[in-house]
Amino acid sequence: MPKLRLRSAAPALLSLAALLTLSACGLTEYPNSTFNHTTDFNTSIDALFSRLVFWGTIVFVVVEAALIFTIIRYRKRPGGAPARQIHGNAALEITWTAIPAIILVLIAVPTVKTIFETQKPAPAGSLTVEVVGHQWWWEFRYPELGIVTANEVYVPVGRTVNFVLTTKDVLHSFWIPQMGGKRDLITNRTNYLWFTPSDTLKSSAWNGFCTEYCGASHANMRIRMYTVQPDEFASWARHQASPAVFNPSAAPATPVVTASNPGQATAPADTTTALPSGYVFPREQLPAHVVPQTPIPAGITSDDALLAGGDATRGATQGFMLGGCIGCHAINGLPGAVSNIGPNLTHVASRHTIAGGLYKNDGPTLARWIKNARHLKPGSIMNTIGRGEYDPIMKTTVTAGLDDRQIADVVAYLLSLK
Ligand code: CUA
Repeated sequence: MPKLRLRSAAPALLSLAALLTLSACGLTEYPNSTFNHTTDFNTSIDALFSRLVFWGTIVFVVVEAALIFTIIRYRKRPGGAPARQIHGNAALEITWTAIPAIILVLIAVPTVKTIFETQKPAPAGSLTVEVVGHQWWWEFRYPELGIVTANEVYVPVGRTVNFVLTTKDVLHSFWIPQMGGKRDLITNRTNYLWFTPSDTLKSSAWNGFCTEYCGASHANMRIRMYTVQPDEFASWARHQASPAVFNPSAAPATPVVTASNPGQATAPADTTTALPSGYVFPREQLPAHVVPQTPIPAGITSDDALLAGGDATRGATQGFMLGGCIGCHAINGLPGAVSNIGPNLTHVASRHTIAGGLYKNDGPTLARWIKNARHLKPGSIMNTIGRGEYDPIMKTTVTAGLDDRQIADVVAYLLSLK
């Protein structure tokens, strides 16, 4: 009999052990874990969680011990007397009402305190980042800095960032697990989420997700967050706020050295633009878990030779217009490109991912994406641009659109927008 009871308690004990192990996991073994102390937000959530696990463990052990003891001690024995029934024992009833009430108070006080701490308005001096959910990508706007970007968000360590959450269409939910918190983007309502990345954090890259089902490509709506040092952030922000300078003929043969870009003195000449580029999280330092792994679906091709010969000027002046790109995408610095239906592409080449974080940002992927976005990302509202491509939503073959050479020109142009 005792053996049987122990065996049935084993699964519960095992899950408790698993929970305790999980709560001790670090940043590296489980890259999307929420048990981190990277921000004030997740530190207080984790403290609350640990406290609940502590009290829960005590309750579990005491209740199970009492149960096992009672079952063994008072089990039915051959020839034993019938059990004595008790009713209306006031002392017992008060005790088993009071104990859970005390436990609930011990849980409620820190819970309510944490709710008030994390839900109050962001402290003054926070960095505002407006987050706009779209089917299926993220728009990030820094109103104080004049920056509009997509899918990749930079924040400086040591400064509170206040996310202002709205949606352009349906419900979405903003979640960067390792930073803590998860909050919905709701129509006709503005939500807020703020936290302060610890100033001891090294410059790092994190994954974020949409966690509210929002349609065909809900799972393809991802975020990369970069927590960077304040000077790196300042450099990134300064550059992102500048218009896309595109003037190949004006590019100097040697780099321009000015007081504002002394680092350019030994840097190799950029033959496309004369603009000093700002900080970008180094591609070679991206941890493996933030690098997109989605394979590109078969059937859409790109031509390496054509891509190598892509003409950025032709891409800007012809391809971007002929392909209809200008109807949806803004590029600050390209006359007429002001639409905000699709992601702002002003500095698209400085991003490591495209298509809502689904794919790597490189020439062959960009070319395939432009050619047939809907084949690469189900439900995408981006038109099928490649001439001769089958559009899986319209169920027709595109007869206008761009050929491979014209797409190569557009890719060359986009990749020049660092
Ligand atoms: Cu957006 Cu799910």
